[in-house]
Amino acid sequence: MEAVSNSRIGSEAARIACRIRSATTVTVVSHIDADGISAASIASSALERAKIPHDVLFFKKLDEAAVDSLIKLSSEALVWLTDLGSSHSSRLAGEDFVITDHHHASESDFAVDGSSDQAFFLPFACRYHLNPHLFGYSGDRDISGSGLAFLVSLGMDAENEDLVKLAIIGAIGDMQDSDMRRLTGLNAEIAKFGAKRGRIERRYDLRLFGTQTRPIQRLIEYCSDPMIPGLTGDGPACDDFLRSLRIPLSSENGAPTRWCDLNSGERRRIITGLSRKILEGGGIEKDVERLMGEIYIFPEEEVGSPLREAREFATLLNSCGRNDMPELALEICKGDRRSALENAYSLLRTHRENISNAINFVRQMGVGTKGRVQHFHCADQVKDTIVGIIAGMLLGSGEIDPSKPVVGFAISKEEDGRFKIKASIRGSRHLVEMGLNLASAVKSAAESVSGVGGGHSVAAGATLPLGSEDRFLAALDAEISKQLA
Ligand code: C5P
Ligand code: C5P
Ligand code: ZN
Repeated sequence: MEAVSNSRIGSEAARIACRIRSATTVTVVSHIDADGISAASIASSALERAKIPHDVLFFKKLDEAAVDSLIKLSSEALVWLTDLGSSHSSRLAGEDFVITDHHHASESDFAVDGSSDQAFFLPFACRYHLNPHLFGYSGDRDISGSGLAFLVSLGMDAENEDLVKLAIIGAIGDMQDSDMRRLTGLNAEIAKFGAKRGRIERRYDLRLFGTQTRPIQRLIEYCSDPMIPGLTGDGPACDDFLRSLRIPLSSENGAPTRWCDLNSGERRRIITGLSRKILEGGGIEKDVERLMGEIYIFPEEEVGSPLREAREFATLLNSCGRNDMPELALEICKGDRRSALENAYSLLRTHRENISNAINFVRQMGVGTKGRVQHFHCADQVKDTIVGIIAGMLLGSGEIDPSKPVVGFAISKEEDGRFKIKASIRGSRHLVEMGLNLASAVKSAAESVSGVGGGHSVAAGATLPLGSEDRFLAALDAEISKQLA
């Protein structure tokens, strides 16, 4: 971490921290997903500790109208944008804006002096702009919005080191570990820093979702990355598989056995059994490797709580944020373990139901293909904030063609009451290695139909005028064909 503090991105974080410390009031503005919520709670805790009065506002996305409202706000408070803002940085100019964001932005948004490898900001651009792309890092893998907010919080006060947990939760929520099955780059430095201080435990373990909360047979049944032939999607087969390995499915008092309840011998038997199933079912060594990876445990939380492991924690935050309750998630990140947590658990149940209903809906309607892209339309049957999760799950499940990015559409109601089309687009690691950059493809395809869009290489989103879906798909197909040519 010392290396990070002494690097260019570290000194920029320290300079930004000074600006924030000099503010009399701050408005934190963030995104509604797990990374945005974690970033906002890092900012909010750091400000609280520095005794700087502040508000937190959450946005589903930043559009021109939202930027207008922030410009108005900036006459009264320093506006600190986390996990969003980079794509509007040329308008969020001057002394009254701070941006800590990892999204791709166009050259003009960054407004850097291209004649040098240093990030010299042009006078009209945001003066306090921390984005990994400006410092030679990847915003897809190396650091997330909450990692950046954490670097700034450390610059504000070294005591903020306990917020490191949230930096990891945000990175995992944005799936920044998915390429290498562990965090890398600046994220790895942050994780190491947290481990040294006993805040995080890094473990090489099964990488499936639900190791703390799901009965083990469900853990296996729902596993889609990798697919386990004969087990994924088949509950009774999972029960038989575990019985054949002499794994008790429940404890003496009848509680279902979870991964976190097993001893190391039992875990090893299951991992060996799963590997064998993959290979026997025609999988390759690479699929077996994806079973395992680095996972991040928070020793301060109870065993069996979704707050104990980063991926489950992130999902809990997403279930609040993507169901219009980001403030609830903020309270949990900041330490509330009472009513906020109870309410979040009930949202998590609703979230799971919504996802399962949405997947069934898309299965019924079917997924179409246009050239190099696949697409489905949820109309008003699925929340616009959930469509991206569905797109990602379908692509990862092998149910649809993994060699073509998938676009999910839904109708969204804008702040002004008008209806628009929300598009969520997901690609695969493999396609990104071959040249896919969804951030730029989606941005230009959206602009060609008078919409807006952006995001990351592997995951992007757009807001489009009603009725422009076909033209958007055609433009996106053309862009992606160019990238993959
Ligand atoms: O706005 P933000 O950057 O936080 O959103 C990133 C989105 O991209 C998240 O919803 C995350 O789940 C998604 N993603 C994905 N697959 C990846 C990386 C990110 O679906 N490999
Ligand atoms: O909403 P969804 O999870 O599909 O968003 C994927 C990525 O696309 C996120 O990083 C989000 O910030 C970005 N996005 C965007 N412009 C939009 C919608 C989403 O940049 N209009
Ligand atoms: Zn993010």
